[in-house]
Amino acid sequence: MKRVLSGIQPTGSLNIGTYLGSVKNFVKLQDTMPDYEFFIFIADLHAITVPKDKQLLRNKIRELAALYIACGLRPDRVNLYIQSEIPAHSQLAYLLQCNSYIGELERMTQYKEKSRKQETGVTVGLFTYPTLMAADILLYDPEFVPVGVDQKQHLELTRDIAQRMNNKFNDIFTVPNPLIAEVGAKIMSLSDPTSKMSKSDANEKARINLLDPENIIKKRIKSAVTDNLGTIKYDPENRPGISNLMTIYSVITNKSFDSIEESYEGKGYKEFKEDLGEIVFQELKPIQERYYELINSSELDDILDKGRDVAAKVAFKKIMKLNDRIGLGRKRRK
Ligand code: TYM
Repeated sequence: MKRVLSGIQPTGSLNIGTYLGSVKNFVKLQDTMPDYEFFIFIADLHAITVPKDKQLLRNKIRELAALYIACGLRPDRVNLYIQSEIPAHSQLAYLLQCNSYIGELERMTQYKEKSRKQETGVTVGLFTYPTLMAADILLYDPEFVPVGVDQKQHLELTRDIAQRMNNKFNDIFTVPNPLIAEVGAKIMSLSDPTSKMSKSDANEKARINLLDPENIIKKRIKSAVTDNLGTIKYDPENRPGISNLMTIYSVITNKSFDSIEESYEGKGYKEFKEDLGEIVFQELKPIQERYYELINSSELDDILDKGRDVAAKVAFKKIMKLNDRIGLGRKRRK
């Protein structure tokens, strides 16, 4: 069966950037791509490239799992699992590292940015991160990987590694295609609309988390940086603030930029922001209600156990096949 795969790191709290740029897209795709099997996971190994508090990490893993389901992922359509519960991810990452080059990893923009920002030692894990991401993908032979714009370069590297491995080891991997949404693939910070809304931004005002209460959601929209022109017009280059808010509006309501502009003709930021605050709150309210039902339930563990069992089988088979093609271990006697 053809497959779709993607993952999210359990760092910080899930915010509307990650939700609109990826999770909402998975929820749509699971219904519009009935011929595909879905593998969606919690990328906890990716979260420890920088030091993490043990209890906080545990909580964030479970929180993300519950949020995935609360946002609408259907356990009957999606295999949902935790990356570290499947050892094959780390195993394949090592095998890929032996077929990747320091130069190509050094070119990764995210590595360059993150290592520049870091005050203490940069870990080898942060450097090899894209090979772990490639392993997450290639283990399952997906045809499509839905991601936001910031992951495009990692996907391109994954394709290069897959093609290289295919040449060496007799077409072992499916070469995956990124699936990037037309609108919403890069939601910007609410306090600096020229940079991405990020889980790790120290400024709380930059984002709305999925579990934020109504007053915070509305306050964040109200205080979002715009400009002094006061009109509702989509122009991301010259007016990134209002264009970002219009993007959020558009992804949630499915309205085009033209029709949003038309509805706010002659109206100002105050009215637009009040409406948008309500729209975001109404979108998040049912997610929050479902989240609180799930977070301490055994239902969530059952979903994660089932997902892990299905994924582990696929992943183990792939590792054994690759080990054999490389010449590792013993050849089975018939
Ligand atoms: P992560 O956890 O940073 O983000 C998860 C997904 O959300 C998208 N995203 C955004 N989209 C729009 N606007 C934003 N402001 C925004 N912020 C985040 C990201 O592009 C991503 O699709 N390395 C990955 C996780 C990962 C993965 C994988 C993804 C690990 N292995 C294999 C796909 C396949 C990451 O850190 O994403």
